[in-house]
Amino acid sequence: MPILDPRTFEFISRSPEQTRRLGARLGTLLQPGHLLCLSGDLGSGKTTMVQGVAQGWGTLDPVSSPTFVLVNTYRRPDGQCLYHLDAYRLRDALEAEDLDLIQMLETGALVIEWAERIKTILPQERLWVDLRWLADEQRGMAITARGAQYEAMLGEFRQKIFGG
Ligand SMILES: Nc1ncnc2c1ncn2[C@@H]1O[C@H](COP(=O)(O)OP(=O)(O)OP(=O)(O)O)[C@@H](O)[C@H]1O
Ligand SMILES: [Mg+2]
Repeated sequence: MPILDPRTFEFISRSPEQTRRLGARLGTLLQPGHLLCLSGDLGSGKTTMVQGVAQGWGTLDPVSSPTFVLVNTYRRPDGQCLYHLDAYRLRDALEAEDLDLIQMLETGALVIEWAERIKTILPQERLWVDLRWLADEQRGMAITARGAQYEAMLGEFRQKIFGG
């Protein structure tokens, strides 16, 4: 029986598909103004999870790591935006300040890969997912909520997973 702390949730994914499904369940809960931070090493599954998030959120746009641009924008038929930022290539948090995260959060939801690199400039309230390589197809994830609305979101997510 997991300890029912409303602020954290731990899980082991056993395949890329499972990580996408978990991401999709998070994606259905994402509202404009929400911030979802992903951290973890190369190949830990961040982009794989974002693919699920975007799908669950409701876009048909293909998801890939932003490379030449730092931010990808995905759209939904109702006009809403999901921003996907990869902080890997940013030199530091200062450079990230130029990206105007606040403006993105005013006009849509924001998912950030390598969020730990720009932690100092991120809003305190957010959902944070730490991904960890365990074995070939196994990834550990720890989800932490900060702020009342994110705790509620994590609670809903947990219910969906456990079906409780
Ligand atoms: N359980 C799993 N969850 C997610 N990815 C998995 C899993 N098992 C195997 N993989 C594989 O691990 C790789 C994860 O790559 P992905 O691009 O998602 O990682 P990333 O964290 O975004 O890396 P990067 O820091 O380079 O952007 C993919 O090739 C994926 O198929
Ligand atoms: Mg990636």
